[in-house]
Amino acid sequence: MTTRRKLAAGNWKMNGLAADLAEVTQLAQAHPAPGCDILLCPPATLLDRMSAAARGSAIATGGQDCHARASGAHTGDISAAMLVDAGASHVILGHSERRADHGETSAQVLAKAQAALSAGLCAVVCIGETLDQREAGETLGVIGDQLAGSVPEAVTGDNLVVAYEPVWAIGTGKIPTLEQIGEVHDFLRKDLVARFGETTGNAIRLLYGGSVKPANAAEIFAVANVDGALVGGASLKAADFSPIIAALEASQG
Ligand code: 13P
Repeated sequence: MTTRRKLAAGNWKMNGLAADLAEVTQLAQAHPAPGCDILLCPPATLLDRMSAAARGSAIATGGQDCHARASGAHTGDISAAMLVDAGASHVILGHSERRADHGETSAQVLAKAQAALSAGLCAVVCIGETLDQREAGETLGVIGDQLAGSVPEAVTGDNLVVAYEPVWAIGTGKIPTLEQIGEVHDFLRKDLVARFGETTGNAIRLLYGGSVKPANAAEIFAVANVDGALVGGASLKAADFSPIIAALEASQG
């Protein structure tokens, strides 16, 4: 059996000012030698300062998006190399909020992921169905298409993480049943093994995201093929994220 080191990832989305960096210091102090990986993805304006605040700790930092090109006339965009320059080791790509707010397609996410890999970043590629799609019985088809369309060929267990985030569970307080989470994660694992082979397919970590809280983290982390979480609202405060990290450490066994 493959042992995957678990990952607790926080997506701060469009939240966070300089004063909020105190949360990072608190989190670092609370988890000096964690039994899982910890990642925080702040808005781009805070990335450099958060990376500095996290230096010497077990907390890695990441961006929330990058451009597919290395540089050029793209006002307002940020390249993968710029994220690396600001101390990032990871980048979230294809989040449903970007797919919805900015019309990002899987083909664009794929190009961004290729840019991220070329810059030495680990890509956290997000996929997930809408409520309409789930109710129409299309969940596995939708996420299978998103996975196939968004993930480049040159991936390994070190440079790709896949986050399953049902759109209807994000920020709503609703989560799928544990059986539904398990069904999707088993499907993703099989899909990755079929495409990339046993070694790579079993090494890629699969995160669940959508309304993960201290109160539901342990039961979600007990589901097979759930290797951690991508947490939005509950990652903003150390007091909320810390018990989620502790639940993940406990599930590592
Ligand atoms: P919430 O944890 O706030 O539901 O957000 C999940 C998410 O979108 C993480 O990327």
